[in-house]
Amino acid sequence: MDYNTYKIIHILGLVFVMLGLGAILGAGREVDRARKVGGMLHGIGMLALLIAGVGMIHKSGLGWPGWTHAKIGIWLVIGMLPVAVRKGWMPSAIGWLVAAGLAVVAAWLALAKPF
Ligand code: HEM
Repeated sequence: MDYNTYKIIHILGLVFVMLGLGAILGAGREVDRARKVGGMLHGIGMLALLIAGVGMIHKSGLGWPGWTHAKIGIWLVIGMLPVAVRKGWMPSAIGWLVAAGLAVVAAWLALAKPF
């Protein structure tokens, strides 16, 4: 697959993750179906983000500078958000804010490549 295809899959993965999180966090602990579908979308999106991110790194010869490690850290935190909300470690509203804030930082890291 070429670089642009990986990038499109990366962005599509991000869309899936955010749609999934929207359903999971909106449903809170109550609505089963929203949590199930949201969980699936979130999982598929997370996988697509990672595979396509690594694909772009290989195709571009970027190597693994610090910002790619930071993005993997962000990816892990976003992956934990449904668990954090389900277990009651944080309210849904905070989960939304964390997801949106971290997505912005992850996009900025890819564009600015600050370290
Ligand atoms: C939740 C986590 C993530 C979000 C929200 C995210 C978001 C984005 C966005 C919006 C872009 C496009 C920037 C542009 O227009 O060039 C991008 C590019 C990229 N991302 Fe991610 N990403 C995430 C996770 C990852 C991970 C885990 C990796 C690596 C394993 C990764 C590697 C890359 C690479 C290599 C690029 C292309 C940079 C370039 O074009 O020079 N991302 N990401």
